Amino acid sequence: MSQTNTITHDIIVVGAGLAGSWAALAASKAGVKDIGVLSKLHPLRSHSGAAQGGIAAALNNVRPVPGSGSSGPLEAIPPGEAPIDSWELHMFDTIKGSDWLGDQDAIEIMVKEAPDLIYEYEHMGCVFSRLEDGRIAQRRFGGHSTPRANYSADYTGHVLLHTIYEQALRYGVKYYPEWYCLDLIIEDNVCRGVVAMDILTGKLYTMRAKAVMFGTGGYGRAWKITSNATANTGDGVAIAYNAGVPLMDMEFVQFHPTGLYGKGILMSEACRGEGGYLRNSDGDRFMEKYAAGLMELAPRDLVSRSEQLEINEGRGVGPDKGGVYLDLRHLGPEKIMSRLPQVRELAHEFLGVDIIHDMVPIQPTAHYSMGGIPANVDGQVIADAEGTPVVGFYAAGECACISVHGANRLGTNSLLDASLFGRRAGKAMAAFIQNGAKLYPISGDPAQRQEERIQRLMDAPASSKESVAQIGAELKETMTNDCGVFRDGERMARALRKIKELQARFPNARVMDKSRRFNTDVLGAIETEHLLTFAEVVVASALNRTESRGAHWRTDFGRRDDTNWLKHTLVFKNGEEGPRLGYKSVNIDWEKYPPQERKY
Ligand code: FUM
Repeated sequence: MSQTNTITHDIIVVGAGLAGSWAALAASKAGVKDIGVLSKLHPLRSHSGAAQGGIAAALNNVRPVPGSGSSGPLEAIPPGEAPIDSWELHMFDTIKGSDWLGDQDAIEIMVKEAPDLIYEYEHMGCVFSRLEDGRIAQRRFGGHSTPRANYSADYTGHVLLHTIYEQALRYGVKYYPEWYCLDLIIEDNVCRGVVAMDILTGKLYTMRAKAVMFGTGGYGRAWKITSNATANTGDGVAIAYNAGVPLMDMEFVQFHPTGLYGKGILMSEACRGEGGYLRNSDGDRFMEKYAAGLMELAPRDLVSRSEQLEINEGRGVGPDKGGVYLDLRHLGPEKIMSRLPQVRELAHEFLGVDIIHDMVPIQPTAHYSMGGIPANVDGQVIADAEGTPVVGFYAAGECACISVHGANRLGTNSLLDASLFGRRAGKAMAAFIQNGAKLYPISGDPAQRQEERIQRLMDAPASSKESVAQIGAELKETMTNDCGVFRDGERMARALRKIKELQARFPNARVMDKSRRFNTDVLGAIETEHLLTFAEVVVASALNRTESRGAHWRTDFGRRDDTNWLKHTLVFKNGEEGPRLGYKSVNIDWEKYPPQERKY
């Protein structure tokens, strides 16, 4: 029998990172006061807080010291002197970074509104690093042609998250910390709420709302080497897909060039923004061969591929020669301690290396998902290629695909995307409520279905040899080996077969803890089920796209093919038959930003 209760809010947000908390804050400021935010973690442990190096906006506070070249020292732009940056330049860099797959109308909104967003953060008391004259400090980042990463040492996501959480509390937002969303309720294309578990008690709730927003983050945990927190299991994308919402551009997964060797933990791109080098086992700065113009500050897809080529050709470092070196020694202790303190601590804690004195081994690490739940520039989720809205359902941040990053995201554009489109989604939901949105009835008992799902997991025979952890480990191995930095048809077909096999084995996997209170065993099983769900979509989309673009690089189709593939992938769940693939056009301003060859 169902043990469920019902909770009702005007707005329910799932996920308390920057996108979710911004949406809640913006909706509350706009006058909607009945807002509940669910988070499977304490809100301040959301993965937005792990972003390190900066948030992009063309503020025009710094420029290279005249005559010092594009990688030389930076100085404050004296008041009254000509700006070097603009939203147009930020827009072009983002489009080029996206390998022309980003939707240009969405990118334009993001880069134009970026400075205002930063000033809103500043006025809320966010502790940015500062120039001597008090303006916000900026640094270089990969693929950006000017220094426009606004930062707080290497704790940028952390300080933004604290700022926004504190403000959301101030504006009366109710948080449900350690509540786990299990299901999204959509009937007749109208979103009516979610089913969630209070992790502490194990009790399930039907949560009804006029508007639901997902800000559930990314899904790097499907790969063995990842910078993502253990919580990043793609729950939101899997739940939305299971509820009949398509997923867009899932084949585009970003590998950050500098994950700590063997661990994947992020060593911020700020290391290279501040002047760090990449070296192979011969001590060479190998980026000279691959991107002589931008060197280590080429975009991430290009740098990760360059590293992987060095490794594949035998010039790797580390016990299995699977890494390369990040060399920061020449930056000196003062710069390292003031600008990169967290990076120093991480390298020391996890590999015992002091970056002041020694090079640190790193390797590409699964970092960011460009694809996700398709949504428009107000965070309104769409149901098809024509843009038909799913009434009352919104998404923003990494789980969403508003398509500002296309095939490859530039560093520092994610904190911007999550904050800015979270804010826009919050305002849009408030308008939706204030224009008379209704609380729709829910048929049947969706919470009871989730009870039965949990019971099935608990009922798997104790004698079964299958373990959730083993299935998860095999999936991660497969995704890293067969759907990683370089891909080909044969390996991806093998990966797809393996995922199907793991999906078939999953129902027999044992859950050992049969209790209800804080049952992380059951949660781990559900998360693994979600990994298996969206991993199939990632691989099916990647196998289908017979070209190389941005982060999706195929050795058997080594060129970008605009004739056939200048389009988004949309994947629909198709019952037992597996993913059904469709397409959506890319929004391009053919006059201003027509596709070009992407060279750095
Ligand atoms: O490298 C970093 O600090 C990460 C930033 C980002 O992904 O935008």
